[in-house]
Amino acid sequence: MYKNLFIYYFTGTGNALATANWIAGFAKEHGIKSEIIRIEKNGSVAPDQFDENTLIGFCYPTHGFNAPPIVLDFLWKFPQTGKNNVFLVNTRAGMKISKIFTPGMSGLAQILPAIMLRLKGYRIVGFRPVDLPSNWISIHPGLRQKVIDSIFGRCHRITKRFAEKIFSGKKVYRGLYDLPIDLLISPVAVGYFLFGRFALAKTFVASHKCNNCGLCTKQCPVSAIRFVQNHPFWSHKCESCMHCMNICPQRAIETAHLATGILWWFVFSFIPVLIAGLFVKEGNFIDTYFTLIVWTIMFITGLPIIFFGYKILHFFMQYKFFNYLITYTSLTRFKFWRRYFAPKNYIE
Ligand SMILES: Cc1cc2nc3c(=O)[nH]c(=O)nc-3n(C[C@H](O)[C@H](O)[C@H](O)COP(=O)(O)O)c2cc1C
Repeated sequence: MYKNLFIYYFTGTGNALATANWIAGFAKEHGIKSEIIRIEKNGSVAPDQFDENTLIGFCYPTHGFNAPPIVLDFLWKFPQTGKNNVFLVNTRAGMKISKIFTPGMSGLAQILPAIMLRLKGYRIVGFRPVDLPSNWISIHPGLRQKVIDSIFGRCHRITKRFAEKIFSGKKVYRGLYDLPIDLLISPVAVGYFLFGRFALAKTFVASHKCNNCGLCTKQCPVSAIRFVQNHPFWSHKCESCMHCMNICPQRAIETAHLATGILWWFVFSFIPVLIAGLFVKEGNFIDTYFTLIVWTIMFITGLPIIFFGYKILHFFMQYKFFNYLITYTSLTRFKFWRRYFAPKNYIE
């Protein structure tokens, strides 16, 4: 049915690339010629026109219950050629507790890209989540190798079934099973897109172990890291994809848990409540709508304070004592707090 397959992918730690590689491998077995193209900041462009026998696929991680902004941006600019069949695979935070595989949550990660492509005239023939190992090591240690292997084995079978159905002309909307819960959590996805991702971008620091090798800046998929005062600085473009943290040869990139906790307490609690409180008089407008006003102040002042606070944090990180203090109050610095990257054999 198909002669060609183009798979566009974005990845932080290799999971989405692994699914793209698997699907390309299955395509080969079906005599379909495939090409895998990385979605890059100012790089990858799609052709103006696709051949009518061409199937198009997109593989990407789920970030904040949505597709990563770089993927949404790519889809927004994707040519409006119409008619071709398209499938979507979003990798999610899979885990394994005892013998039970636990799934992640998609939110808008499938629905939104599917709607965007449908509006451009493409026919969506399938979408499904694939629960590969969670890579969000800012909030939990990387999974153990045994668990990683077991999750990969399961996901390989799932992806194979999905791809074979698509190649034989069937439609697979497995992602719809979770639709009610996905829609329920969609406000969080909006909050993450407008606010959360910028706040998270400002949680990374380079510890005293950093030897300025520059690998993080070179390999950042969204070119978000630059050297400021001879030290890596994470700009607002960071998508928290976790690539830098997991490839750093010195294990020098940490999430500044205590510093972030203090800063976020100021942003989400202390400052908005303080400002709103200054204007409260019993029975006045601010008293009646206190919570709403606190939230509004938080949204207005939050990001500027976070950006400014991060600048100060970054400035002081060049001083040994402060650097040690921030590093030693980070959970990611513990030895048991493993890093994560998809096994090499799946991504090469
Ligand atoms: C900042 C961030 C946000 C994430 N948000 C979600 C999420 O909303 N739902 C989910 O299931 N997984 C979430 N994850 C987990 C990743 O989507 C998952 O581990 C994915 O397989 C990683 O793919 P990659 O290796 O191609 O980057 C998140 C990970 C990060 C780093």
